[in-house]
Amino acid sequence: VRAAISVPGTGTVQIEDVTPAPVGPHDVLVRVDASGVCHTDLSAALGRSAGYERPKVLGHEGAGTVLEIGDRVRRCEVGDRVIASFVPACGDCWFCSRGWTNHCERTAERVSAYSVTRPDGSLAQTMAGLGTFAEVMTVHEDALVPVRTDLPSEQLALIGCGVTTGVGAVLWTAGVEPGASVAVYGVGGVGHFVLQGARIAGAAEIIVVDPLEHKRAHATSLGATHAIDPADGDPVQAIAELTGGRGADYVFEVVGKAEVAEQAYASARRRGTVVLIGKPAAGTVLNLPGDVLFRHEKRLVGSLYGSARIREHFPTLVLLAEQGILDIGAAISRRFALEDANDALAAIEDGTVIRSVLC
Ligand SMILES: NC(=O)c1ccc[n+]([C@@H]2O[C@H](COP(=O)([O-])OP(=O)(O)OC[C@H]3O[C@@H](n4cnc5c(N)ncnc54)[C@H](O)[C@@H]3O)[C@@H](O)[C@H]2O)c1
Ligand SMILES: [Zn+2]
Ligand SMILES: [Zn+2]
Repeated sequence: VRAAISVPGTGTVQIEDVTPAPVGPHDVLVRVDASGVCHTDLSAALGRSAGYERPKVLGHEGAGTVLEIGDRVRRCEVGDRVIASFVPACGDCWFCSRGWTNHCERTAERVSAYSVTRPDGSLAQTMAGLGTFAEVMTVHEDALVPVRTDLPSEQLALIGCGVTTGVGAVLWTAGVEPGASVAVYGVGGVGHFVLQGARIAGAAEIIVVDPLEHKRAHATSLGATHAIDPADGDPVQAIAELTGGRGADYVFEVVGKAEVAEQAYASARRRGTVVLIGKPAAGTVLNLPGDVLFRHEKRLVGSLYGSARIREHFPTLVLLAEQGILDIGAAISRRFALEDANDALAAIEDGTVIRSVLC
């Protein structure tokens, strides 16, 4: 089957005819019906993430149909529609049993266990134990959530990362309440869903910051009340002016740059909450003012996968989309064939898309 394998350090992939990993007792063979293309895929292709010095099948945001199951699989059946999760949830480790399945202790073992065989006979691991930039993938059953819905596969695919990360950061990491003021730095594929999450939570003010005019316009059309171009002056100041001089109740960083995380920290009011979603390059260190840290009593939290419990929250997000409360389709700017995965990666770099989908 065809798969897109990263060429380390180049930001590109090459399409190869590979053999998926054999289906073990707890594994599932999935036909990938659609895969979103996330900034994390680009960072991996550029070699900015640990472990990506070697070629891997990229893609961690996908949905598909079960083709075959191992003897001991109990979470899904042949023919089920499934959403893949880039963090598996075993259900019974220390973290899973406390409801923090996005920190499942079996993650490292599960995500490194799967490799495809390349035409030259060598092996290439799959990103996050998935590798959704492929026609077919072998994955552990713990990384799949079956869903019964008529939503299009491209929308289900986005639940695999962008939707859950963005909406979840608002609802399940931060717990934004109705009437709150929310600021979002970066309204790309994930930030777009932070914005939608803020709207769903009933935020009264949603301020977005993004250097790209079309992203700001898109955000405004989906409920942002104010849009700031950081080129027009200090966005921290602009957010302060819009919030009575105090700063926003909740601030989300969805870019992955240290300087933006520092601006996000400065943009929250005293006792406000700052949520870091963006993934900085490995080794990045933040500079935060120590005297402000204690005096302003801000809460600074990271958010991995929207703090979601996939088996409960993927179906919740499907329901919100079916009811029209969450508009996943609005984020999909372009569709590419798997062969054109490099164009999709380039489109992230150029900032020309909110999200694109391989299908
Ligand atoms: N925490 C998680 O679980 C998780 C999951 C998925 C992605 N991520 C990370 O989230 C980040 C965003 O991913 P994405 O797919 O939305 O990327 P994206 O490229 O689609 O969006 C990034 C946005 O940030 C904007 N931007 C750039 N510089 C800015 C600045 N100085 N101020 C404000 N906005 C700025 C860009 O114009 C773009 O719209 C990445 O770092 C990605 O790796 C984290
Ligand atoms: Zn992602
Ligand atoms: Zn676990």
